Amino acid sequence: MKKIIVAIDGYSSSGKSTMAKDLAKRIGYLYVDSGAMYRAVTLYALRHGLADAERGVDVDNLLRVLPDIEISFMLAPDGSQHTLLNGEDVEKEIRLMEVSDMVSPISVIPEVRHRLTALQQSYGVNKGIVMDGRDIGTTVFPDAEMKVFVEASPEIRARRRVDELLAKGENVAYEDVYRNVCERDRIDTTRKESPLRKADDARVLNNDTLTREEQMQWMLDLFNTIVSDETAD
Ligand code: DC
Repeated sequence: MKKIIVAIDGYSSSGKSTMAKDLAKRIGYLYVDSGAMYRAVTLYALRHGLADAERGVDVDNLLRVLPDIEISFMLAPDGSQHTLLNGEDVEKEIRLMEVSDMVSPISVIPEVRHRLTALQQSYGVNKGIVMDGRDIGTTVFPDAEMKVFVEASPEIRARRRVDELLAKGENVAYEDVYRNVCERDRIDTTRKESPLRKADDARVLNNDTLTREEQMQWMLDLFNTIVSDETAD
């Protein structure tokens, strides 16, 4: 059967990663979490004193060390995908609030976007890939055969994020997470370079009320229709 590219974009904590992962597993495609790559660059900047909440990002010095930042992925024994930063497994650390707070200002930097976009495109050369992010259907793979734009209200997204963080043992207040979600939405949608927006040919999935199984079925139906149309061509 013909392999395609599946691009899933949407707001932070909209549940798109879970959906993308579920779909990739079900259809036997490679899954790539593009947000994890922006988070890994952010973690590198934080660790090297090139970004902090008060002073913001030291862009000049970050650009100087950008070629030294190597990002890759590894499949863990339990089947989950882990992000590696210069060979170190940083999957847990990149999800911390400290990183979430700094990732949007890092991801507005054009040179960072160009480098990560090129890396993301290299993963898609043989198709058979599901990638989620903010600009996958618009910039990274504008010709992707299947594009989905995921929406959910900020209140529901913040509540989900709090539950996720609490389950990991991170003690966070709903108000702080809600503020972070809204601020990231603002930066992601208003930045100059590849802002978050729905591609004209993307299908919208609002998952405020859908269960994980219902979302999966929606995605699978769309995938099967597209693949059978492509194969018939
Ligand atoms: O999906 P996430 O919340 O893990 O993404 C983290 C941040 O990375 C998000 O605030 C915006 C940025 N990002 C981006 O600018 N472009 C992408 N394709 C993916 C993520």
